[in-house]
Amino acid sequence: MATIKGPLSDDARNTVAECLQGALVDLIDLSLVGKQAHWNLVGTHFRSVHLQLDQVVALARTHMDTLAERAVALGINPDGRAATIAKATKLAQLESGWLEDGKVVATITDCLGGVSKRMYERIRQTEEADPVTQDLLIAAVQEIDKQHWMFQAMT
Ligand SMILES: [Fe+2]
Repeated sequence: MATIKGPLSDDARNTVAECLQGALVDLIDLSLVGKQAHWNLVGTHFRSVHLQLDQVVALARTHMDTLAERAVALGINPDGRAATIAKATKLAQLESGWLEDGKVVATITDCLGGVSKRMYERIRQTEEADPVTQDLLIAAVQEIDKQHWMFQAMT
């Protein structure tokens, strides 16, 4: 079996592993919550919220892949299994059935704010451990904050 050895020390790798796994959980669940809302949405603002939600899903999918592949390049195994995400997620969960647009905007605003806050913490933690990972986290949070602004503007 191949062994992937990255450039980091054991300590640095452990720090980065925790940050990347946390970011992966956040982004995978953000993509799931985003699609659930995209599909079950109802209300006067259906069209704009429906389309905006797919932008959130797209950014979550793009950055989850970049971050998971950074993990692998460092010899860290990303865990994107459904059971792992369900157990570890900190995102607010949507109810089943139809979802009113106002409630969706509030929930997604809350989710984006939470993900952003945790990303900034990870950015701080990876400063010394791995600036390359930090750079990828910065790129992700820039888009998350942009969406957070747009969803706040809808409330
Ligand atoms: Fe769609």
